[in-house]
This record gives sequence, C-alpha cells and structure tokens, in this order.
Amino acid sequence: MSTDPIGIFDSGIGGLTIAYALKSKLPNESFIYFGDTKHLPYGEKSEEAIKYYSLQIAKFLEQKRCKAIIIACNSASSVAFKHISQHITSIPIYNVIDPIIDIVSQDCSKKIGVIGTKATIKSNVYPQKISECCKQTKIVSLETPLLAPMIEEGFFNQEISIVIIKNYLENKCLENIDSLILACTHYPLIKEEVIKFYNNRIKVIDSAEIISEYIMKKFKKLNIINTNKNYSHHFIISNYTKSFEKSAFMFFKENIKLEEIDIWKSNSLYQEKYIV
Ligand code: DGL
Repeated sequence: MSTDPIGIFDSGIGGLTIAYALKSKLPNESFIYFGDTKHLPYGEKSEEAIKYYSLQIAKFLEQKRCKAIIIACNSASSVAFKHISQHITSIPIYNVIDPIIDIVSQDCSKKIGVIGTKATIKSNVYPQKISECCKQTKIVSLETPLLAPMIEEGFFNQEISIVIIKNYLENKCLENIDSLILACTHYPLIKEEVIKFYNNRIKVIDSAEIISEYIMKKFKKLNIINTNKNYSHHFIISNYTKSFEKSAFMFFKENIKLEEIDIWKSNSLYQEKYIV
C-alpha cells in the first residue's frame, strides 16, 4: 500500500502547485496527477457539474490503485468533497480547505479575507468553517475570477497582473483585513505580488505548503509513507494542447510530459465500466 501512488486532481494544471509542494515534502512518493482540462474552469461551473466531474475523476484514480486522493482544487474541494467521500470509502480523500482551517484556527485573526473562484466563494465553505472555530473573527470573501486564467496565461509578476490584483484587493470589503486566504491552487504563483500589495502588513495564506505538511502528518499517522526510492510520476489531462504542457512548467517548475486520457470519451473503456 505505501508504494502505491497518490492521486491528485484539479480542473486543470493549477493543482500542480500542490503536487510540487508534495514532491518536496515527500520525495519518495509516486503520484498520478489528473487535470480536467476538458472541463476547466470549474470555478464557472454549476455545483452539479463540479460534483459529477470530480467524482468520475476520483473513481478513475481509485481504479488506478491510488492509496489516497487529494482534491487539489478549491472549487472542487468546496463543492464536491462530501460527495466524493460518500462514494469512495476505500481510501482517504483530502481536500485543500481543511488544512487551511487548521492553521487559521490556531491563531484567529480579527478580520480574514478569502479570495477565490466564483464556485469557491459562492459555496461559502470558508466562512462557515472558520466561524465554527474562530467565533469572533469577521470573514469577508471576494470572487476573483480573472486571476486563474491570468496566471495560466503566464501573466504574473508583471504590469498587467499588478493592475488586476490591485483592482481586486482594493475592494472595500477587504479593508483592514489582517489575513488573506488565497483560496485557489493557482494563486501561490501570485503570492509575492499579494504580499507586496499589502507591504508585508498582513498574513497571506496559500494552500501548497500547508497541505503538503498536513498530508505528511496524516500519512505518518496512517503509516503509508513510501520509503522505497522507486517512485514515478504520471501526469494526465483530459484534453491535450501544447499550451497546457508549456504552462505546466510554471506550476511544477520542471518540464513534464502530459498524457491525454479522456475518461468521458464515449468509446473509452473506462467509461463503459464507470461512468453512469
Ligand atoms: N484551481 C482551481 C481552484 O483551486 C481554479 C481554476 C478553475 O476555476 O478551474 O479553484
């Protein structure tokens, strides 16, 4: 079991920020990464669609003998985590939200801001979970739908991104926050710009580091850390284009080969067996 891969999925390639952080923390682990580029962005999709896509991907990863599944997407974590956990009970399922809540609850701020996709913000999951453990904290959230596609196109650390980030962060609702949660797995790439915008005055929290630490602790407890150095990684997307492969480098910091497996294709073997 410990030598089995970890399944990681996202709507696209943004979740590679989580895979990258995991690789640094747990260097002997193999993983199978699935990016649902055929259906991205999840942030703009209905709850029903996100649940449907996410569960099919999770079933695919379970069938690939993954020892655990990490939902490396805030939109899918917000909307589909419960749904997946109800249907897949043979292996642990992790979302990217609970590790953040763990950290936030250790030191409740006065006012916390959350930025993310429309699906994540509409779900209201962050305010609900934070208010359960930080009763006095004021929580404000803001949809920032331009940020993920902007980052995916390589626009960060430059004039355009500075203007767009400033435009969002100047929103009145975020006035006087003392922490900001970057609730999207694309956002670690703009963390420095956000810190600069606030002149280092507030705490900026992103999921990559936090979730890899969280998973390491969980795996230790379950005794499923791979100590065997024979690891391999497998990167799958549901719709291949060269530009995804090019952008993948920004998120994973090394060149990777993306393989296309469209689990929704009508003649796919997987579909005959699993998609209902
Ligand atoms: N990576 C996704 C997330 O964390 C955002 C991209 C999308 O909307 O699909 O929410």
